[in-house]
Amino acid sequence: MKIKSICCIGAGYVGGPTMSVIAQKNPQLKVTVVDINADRIAAWNCKDLAQLPIFEPGLDKVVGEARGQNLFFSTEVDKAIDEAEMIFISVNTPTKTYGAGKGMAADLQYVELCARQIAKVSKSDKIVVEKSTLPVKTAEAIKDILDNTGNGIHFEILSNPEFLAEGTAIQDLEAPDRVLIGGEPTETGQEAIEVLKNIYATWVPESQIITTNLWSSELSKLTANAFLAQRVSSINALTELCEKTGANITEVANAIGTDSRIGSKFLNASVGFGGSCFQKDILNLVYICKSLGLNQAADYWEQVVIMNNHQRTRFANQIVKALYGTVADKKIVFFGWAFKKNTNDTRESAAIYIADKLIEEHAQIQVYDPKVTALQMQSDLNYLNSRSEPENAKYLTTHSDPYDAVAGAHALAIITEWDEFKTYDWRKIYDNMSKPAFIFDGRNLLNRSALESIGFLYRGIGQ
Ligand code: UDX
Ligand code: UDX
Repeated sequence: MKIKSICCIGAGYVGGPTMSVIAQKNPQLKVTVVDINADRIAAWNCKDLAQLPIFEPGLDKVVGEARGQNLFFSTEVDKAIDEAEMIFISVNTPTKTYGAGKGMAADLQYVELCARQIAKVSKSDKIVVEKSTLPVKTAEAIKDILDNTGNGIHFEILSNPEFLAEGTAIQDLEAPDRVLIGGEPTETGQEAIEVLKNIYATWVPESQIITTNLWSSELSKLTANAFLAQRVSSINALTELCEKTGANITEVANAIGTDSRIGSKFLNASVGFGGSCFQKDILNLVYICKSLGLNQAADYWEQVVIMNNHQRTRFANQIVKALYGTVADKKIVFFGWAFKKNTNDTRESAAIYIADKLIEEHAQIQVYDPKVTALQMQSDLNYLNSRSEPENAKYLTTHSDPYDAVAGAHALAIITEWDEFKTYDWRKIYDNMSKPAFIFDGRNLLNRSALESIGFLYRGIGQ
């Protein structure tokens, strides 16, 4: 069975790019993306494709091709729900900041609101697809709400978790390793799986579309992120040992990565992982294990997050220690604020925590990032609630030119692995800085011997 119209609630980093690619690959399908945030929708509808609310390489081209043809962005949530035969839920599911499970469980209030709204508005049978990452068994709650508050029509629930990584979202959507669809074993459940499968099958080989039951699909998403994050924490857990023994983490990573059983990806030592998913999903897994009394499993996975926090703190402490034990009133420049390259997303970026710790020591932080706005950086810092907003504004300033940013600085920290940093005139940067000029390369991105020959005191991670 083929359908004519779908909608997606949530025009964020996941909903926006995913629906754009689905629309581009399915010209006969009407795709409407709705969001309660009118500014965000206005930006998605902006004529100038450089002004899209999300920076993602290749996204402008896809939106340019499909928008106005079969891809629409709107704030009219009820209308879109009513028209669509299939509704994707792609709203945010942050870690709870209150009540039971505070700091660990997923806050499902937006998902629940979506379910209630779908139930209220729908006049014909619908397939509801969970796109947001959700704790295992959430589908049950969504189904309960739909069945008990709806207008007596039939709802089928699918889980179709997203595996795209920011910065490569379009590539990941166009050529995914796999698409995962979970559904119920009933006849209608299997039919719903087929409907969604047909949408992806317009460009994804059928052998790469995996179907499972609902719970396996929900848990697979958490598990995939937990495994990826675990690799980063595992390699980071060895960096301190390398620094103490004279081993070099890059050499170790290369050596182990050539073992095909281990593989070479996700072995880059860093200031710690960030992004909206890793920490949230692992904490979710930990919370679920704990609530089922599985304490050893919970402790095992929690250690991945504990290690990540340690890596951020360690990086900040190293800077203070190297700068003779005090950074008060010293200028420390950050190159990069985003949680990784090729995105303007800063959620859970190590930069925020490292800046916070250095500001505690009264350092002046000056940041240059090619894509992140000054407003975003301030709001990230304010969100931590460590000090007042005017104080944060006093300690953190943003520069639009990297060479200006380093003027008079005592140290420079590479936080994000933006490619452009490798092409800079490092002699000019050295000349602009206070001496001795330190570089703390939190990504092992730059050429150590070239920088040392200029005169920099270079400190990598795990070397
Ligand atoms: C989201 C989830 O955070 C993540 O768990 C999941 O894996 C994918 O979807 P993302 O797209 O990155 O990730 O979130 P975000 O950029 O915050 O977008 C969510 C959008 O939903 C926002 O634009 C928000 O305005 C919108 N929203 C939220 C609604 O339209 N209605 C709501 O009730 C709540
Ligand atoms: C992740 C998953 O990769 C994706 O499949 C899922 O759908 C959402 O979560 P994302 O958070 O966008 O994607 O970025 P990812 O590329 O996984 O990087 C996460 C963090 O780990 C970044 O801060 C990155 O810099 C860091 N990282 C990654 C390392 O520090 N070292 C590595 O070797 C790899």
